[in-house]
Amino acid sequence: MEFSEALKSRRSIRAFSDKPVRQQVIDEILLDALESPSSSNTQPYKVAVAQGDVCQQLGQELLSRYYKINKIQRQPLPIKLFKALTSKAMPDGDYKPILGKYPGIFQDRRIATGKGLYKLLGIGRGDKKARDEQMAKNFTFFDAPVAIFIFIHPGMKYTALVDSGIMMQSLMLAATDKGLGTCPQGALGMWRTPLEKHFDIPNGYKLVCGLALGYPKEDEIVNQYRPDKLDLNEFIISTKK
Ligand SMILES: Cc1cc2nc3c(=O)[nH]c(=O)nc-3n(C[C@H](O)[C@H](O)[C@H](O)COP(=O)(O)O)c2cc1C
Repeated sequence: MEFSEALKSRRSIRAFSDKPVRQQVIDEILLDALESPSSSNTQPYKVAVAQGDVCQQLGQELLSRYYKINKIQRQPLPIKLFKALTSKAMPDGDYKPILGKYPGIFQDRRIATGKGLYKLLGIGRGDKKARDEQMAKNFTFFDAPVAIFIFIHPGMKYTALVDSGIMMQSLMLAATDKGLGTCPQGALGMWRTPLEKHFDIPNGYKLVCGLALGYPKEDEIVNQYRPDKLDLNEFIISTKK
């Protein structure tokens, strides 16, 4: 595949076929990802690759936590607060998500992206149940046979976040080149304990993001979603007049 073609054809995939991904293919993608630049070549990242039973079990553990907190959110405030302090299902990820609205234009873009996806799926604005069900699919990795969890060493401060982002994009493009689909998933950073049960995470490493990997399910409308990207004039900071 031409590089530009791979770049443009990579889009977040949210429905995967059950076709397994061969270990050799996974290794090749990971080796390609390791070609990424990083600050002073520190490579401050590690990945946990969940496949087979581990992937299945993790998916069920994350999904069960999602349903539990979803239920808590629907409770009256005092119960919600009590549960927030006592429930084992509360998010325990290393990086806290932004609670509530994103600032300014970013909230508008977030809404536009969500709206576009739900419209394509025929989910109405008020259909909370269907939206929750769509959200729930995140936690079983949209049925992908492989889930990759990205960890960084926070001692490398912001450079570790930049480096891991670059590495993730290399990984996703390498996967695209091989006919595979990916979805980077911040949602998979919500809980850390289920991962600790299955992986020997080295001391100090923090969970940044997850990523679903597999062969895209054919003819699934969700995989045709192509959200808008910025125009060049929105991207470039103009020079002073
Ligand atoms: C850091 C990061 C976190 C993301 N988290 C999620 C997520 O939790 N669930 C999801 O369905 N998509 C997630 N996405 C995918 C974005 O929604 C997607 O990249 C964006 O809408 C642009 O679409 P594209 O990837 O198809 O170009 C995430 C993307 C990034 C880069």
